Amino acid sequence: MKKYTSLNDIENLSETIQKAIQLKENPYQFADLGQHKTLVMLFFNASLRTRLSTEKAAKNLGMEVSVLNITNAWNMEFEDGTVMNLSTSEHIKEAAMVISQYADIIAVRAFPTLKDKEKDTSEIVLNSFTKYATVPIVNMESATDHPLQALADAITITETKKVDKPKVVLSWAPHPKALPHSVANAFVHLMHNMEVEFVITHPEGYELDPEITQQFPIEYDQQKAFENADFIYAKNWSSFNEYGKILNEDPNWMITQEKIGAAKFMHCLPIRRNVVAEDAVLDGENSLVIEQANNRTFAAQIVLKEILNHLS
Ligand code: CP
Repeated sequence: MKKYTSLNDIENLSETIQKAIQLKENPYQFADLGQHKTLVMLFFNASLRTRLSTEKAAKNLGMEVSVLNITNAWNMEFEDGTVMNLSTSEHIKEAAMVISQYADIIAVRAFPTLKDKEKDTSEIVLNSFTKYATVPIVNMESATDHPLQALADAITITETKKVDKPKVVLSWAPHPKALPHSVANAFVHLMHNMEVEFVITHPEGYELDPEITQQFPIEYDQQKAFENADFIYAKNWSSFNEYGKILNEDPNWMITQEKIGAAKFMHCLPIRRNVVAEDAVLDGENSLVIEQANNRTFAAQIVLKEILNHLS
């Protein structure tokens, strides 16, 4: 693997999932692979799971890890030809090339503005790092995608499913803040690559990018969508068409134990209890959220391992 900016960078998903499960059984089996190699992780935004699991994954492979919160660095310019006499102090061209001298792999987290659809859709931050860095880039959640989360979710579903072709439902749920589309997009992208019956449910106006959802059915009646579901994946996102807007805060869309019945419950975390899902769901025996977070380590580890294999 040369980089991991989207799920498309995985050549064979089911083989990669199996390799990740093997790493989970014996995390230190490649503890020398990353010796004298450094992962630099750059955070433009907050993180708990991505930061700690990716660091753990790198260390399991024997890598050194440097973490930089970009708020502590110089304010970065991404546009070409800008007269930098305002708030930006360092251009991505220099920054990416300089960081590449300290890193063998660069991992980047950069959320969308949710104000400028064109800029967000163009993935200006992630793509600028890919363009100007001279080492492989890993996407730790970008403006439109979260492929490490998707790979962890693939591992979790594979480990947990009871039937060959489970029914999986992606359900929008309420949230007081406008949130990105990246986790939902990544999950839909994953569903295109897994043997599942997949349904998306959300209130009208919350349609995701049709280029991503393509032929998948959209059911505006949540309870109908949940019928016979094996997995229910909850996530909030803001409107894509009315870009970044909150159109609906209807608490009736919250995930309750009564609604999900025997289905497994998934969420990428962090989650607002009793807003997105009620306590009974998160504390119930069908919640997979802690295992999903655990699998973030092995998703990151298989990605780093495959990139290290390509470097050496
Ligand atoms: N799910 C996820 O990416 O968690 P963090 O935002 O805490 O990294």
